[in-house]
Amino acid sequence: MRKLIFMMMLVSALGVSAVSRITSPSGELLLNVDIDADGSLCYSLDYKGSSLVKESRLGLVSDEADFTHGFKIAGTDTLSVDRTWKPIWGEYETVRDNFRELAVILKAEKPDREMTVRFRLFDDGLGFRYEFPAQRGSSNYLTVRDEKTEFNFTGDHTLFCIPGDYDTDEYLWSETSFSGLPDALGRYRRHSEAQRTGGNTIQTPMLIKTGAPVYVNIHEAALKGYPAMLLDVDTDRHAMKTHLVPDKLGVRAYLHLPFESPWRTLIVSDDARDILASQLVLNLNEPCKIEDTSWIKPMKFIGVWWEMFTGKKKTWAYSDEYLAKPGVTDYASLKSNGRHPANTANVMRYIDFAARNGIDGVLVEGWNEGWEDWASYRKNRQFLFDKPYPDFDVDSLRDYAAAKGVKLIMHHETAANAADYELQLDRAFKFMKDNNYDAVKTGYVGAIIPRSEHHGSQWMVDHVRHVIERAADYEIMVDSHEAPRPTGLCRTYPNWLAQESARGGEFESMGGNPPSHTCILPFTRLKGGPMDYTPGLFETRLSYYDEGKNDQAGTTLARQLALYLTMPSPMQMACDLPENYERFPDAFQFIKDVPVDWADSRYIEAEPNRYITVARRDKESDDWYVGAITDESPRTAVIDMSFLPKGKKYEATIYEDAPGAHWKDNPQAYRIRKVKVDNKTRLKQPLAAGGGAAIRIKKLH
Ligand code: NOJ
Ligand code: CA
Repeated sequence: MRKLIFMMMLVSALGVSAVSRITSPSGELLLNVDIDADGSLCYSLDYKGSSLVKESRLGLVSDEADFTHGFKIAGTDTLSVDRTWKPIWGEYETVRDNFRELAVILKAEKPDREMTVRFRLFDDGLGFRYEFPAQRGSSNYLTVRDEKTEFNFTGDHTLFCIPGDYDTDEYLWSETSFSGLPDALGRYRRHSEAQRTGGNTIQTPMLIKTGAPVYVNIHEAALKGYPAMLLDVDTDRHAMKTHLVPDKLGVRAYLHLPFESPWRTLIVSDDARDILASQLVLNLNEPCKIEDTSWIKPMKFIGVWWEMFTGKKKTWAYSDEYLAKPGVTDYASLKSNGRHPANTANVMRYIDFAARNGIDGVLVEGWNEGWEDWASYRKNRQFLFDKPYPDFDVDSLRDYAAAKGVKLIMHHETAANAADYELQLDRAFKFMKDNNYDAVKTGYVGAIIPRSEHHGSQWMVDHVRHVIERAADYEIMVDSHEAPRPTGLCRTYPNWLAQESARGGEFESMGGNPPSHTCILPFTRLKGGPMDYTPGLFETRLSYYDEGKNDQAGTTLARQLALYLTMPSPMQMACDLPENYERFPDAFQFIKDVPVDWADSRYIEAEPNRYITVARRDKESDDWYVGAITDESPRTAVIDMSFLPKGKKYEATIYEDAPGAHWKDNPQAYRIRKVKVDNKTRLKQPLAAGGGAAIRIKKLH
């Protein structure tokens, strides 16, 4: 039942100049807000009696008006809210939204300007945003040049971050400090075509760990009609300032007032587990806008995808002849290259495998025209989203999949031609529905068209939301790749099941992801929403396919199973080839069993970049599942099972690293054992270097 306690206190008084302060419901966080001598609004944040964020200024600069100084506080409103809501899918069946709010109304003269800054202080952190009513003294169209939000810290804290970039977030993470940041950023190579920012700029979500320690995740919530936020770091002052992704004219945003900015968010705790459990970013997003959500279904899927990464020289494109005959429109006149996995017979093989194993969906990449020179900046071919290649028989696959009870998942790679995608969108979605598809993976590899834009600029932020809203009109679920990183909008649009927006599992075939990579993503990237990380890799050595390819995934096999728990997503791939799952059927059983939607989650152990142990309860049964991972160092996870109800008996099936397992030298050494557990069990679970354990805890009747 939805519980709503709504209490409102109005303390509005014209000409308030004294410090305004509010505490979080528990009293552990204290927010101070004041106007300085310049008339700039400043805030500071204390945690458990110590300063966490020092006095930091707020404001925004546009060509038409300056919203950084000259203000007087014209009034303040406070509000206390304690309510719950039920996500359509997620880590928890019910989420509590409990905060104290302070809205500071600011006015300036010559010319007249007005702005409200709304702060929400939760037990797990702070969110604040700018609200611009229609102005009387200046234009209501603002050309934003800069946002001047500061986050000033108190010392040379540890930072977990990736470099600032207007176009990609597919980086490995640095664990550094304010003073170490220039060196850390210097070690990154520039991605081809990607627009790295200069200076000490980093992306959000990022994590700070103070000496105390206190952990702080900085990000944003409800990014709409505005560019993505990066942070410029002043390494001497331990200070950060917003750096909005510009368009290529250097403009950050074009606003039409009234306008509310996205929320700037700080998730705060001295217990690292609370950062993982926090629902603050979702709480700051609007409730679900989709009335009938019955068609939104969390799912597991397989796909021909990994065939293109294995080194088997498989291609998304149908033919190699196109480039010699550019302009050909009749693909039937071209010869297949014989290395094209998106062909009818192969896809049927995947459908059979999915049907045999209870996997909901099959994703097919490379089914449509346009892949010939798709990854080139000078691509001269446009993707068509209703034109299958000649070896992909849409009709018979539609009927075959339906007969087997498997859903085909469509793929729309746009090669970053977002403008053209918008023009094709209705036709593309109609084609999907006509052929029984109700989920799509989108992609934006390359430099954005229109060329005036970046992946993180305002135009692209709006484009992606437009795609999600149109998809909802057609009852289509979306998994977007290379889109601006998520900010919790999946609460408002729960058909947005997942995003990539970080360096995913595909990089295991392109240099590899070290084991620590998945020990930091849940503290950072995942705070915005689920990731299509593509777990489930059983054959971790790429030399298995191609002797010349030396890449190796930074993981043991057992750890891949644990990722279904530590990287929760309602759209979860089993990324490996069916033939590899057939080599290890007992381990594959876990992937078949593990749910993708949860009634409850308990973070048992956590330290960023080091280890995570989490337990989750299935929404459909009384069963619990546990996932534990470690970085390059072996460790023993201590799994306190007090989350189980008292007096009930359970059987735990443990999928673990066998003695001698190691991500590099012995990744496939796993074993499976069963033990009886109950609410008093404290399981000592060894994890190999780069290893993990996955446990199914089944209630005994
Ligand atoms: C990059 C995506 O991340 C990957 O999953 C996809 O297979 C390729 N682009 C092709 O669209
Ligand atoms: Ca990608």
